Amino acid sequence: MRLPGRRTATAAALLTGVLLLTGCGSGDGSAGDGGSAGAELSVSGAYMPQPVSDSMAAGFLTISNSGGEKAELVSVTSDVGEVTVHETVEGSMRAVESLAVPAGGELALSSGGNHLMFEKLTRKPLEGEKVAVKLHFAGLSPVDVEIPVKAATYTPASGQ
Ligand code: CU
Repeated sequence: MRLPGRRTATAAALLTGVLLLTGCGSGDGSAGDGGSAGAELSVSGAYMPQPVSDSMAAGFLTISNSGGEKAELVSVTSDVGEVTVHETVEGSMRAVESLAVPAGGELALSSGGNHLMFEKLTRKPLEGEKVAVKLHFAGLSPVDVEIPVKAATYTPASGQ
């Protein structure tokens, strides 16, 4: 009696392990092997009010994590300038090294709170354009986001 299935299963398990080790953030999580689902990130509600300044702009978005592990936003890059992640504490803002997107939760960057800070703009983003950014997470593949530029007075609540 032979057990042809055993060897195949072992090979598949090894292959799955190798794929996980590459650290790809967009895995389908279908291993069903008791392993962690990892972080599953999606971005919504991104916008940038058309900046009034020639050199600085702010960007807002919400990062959702439907996975089983938290993700750590460690940096943001863009071709329109230098980007840092800022938090707002008692009305003044300061750069932070990282922000966590909790497992099964979200990280909201919203007006008056955490935000993306664009400085040393290479061009001034105008309403109707899109600004491409890359969100970098510790140990995960970067996430590309196209941030639409809205009117300077735009707020998500009014939709205007
Ligand atoms: Cu700021």
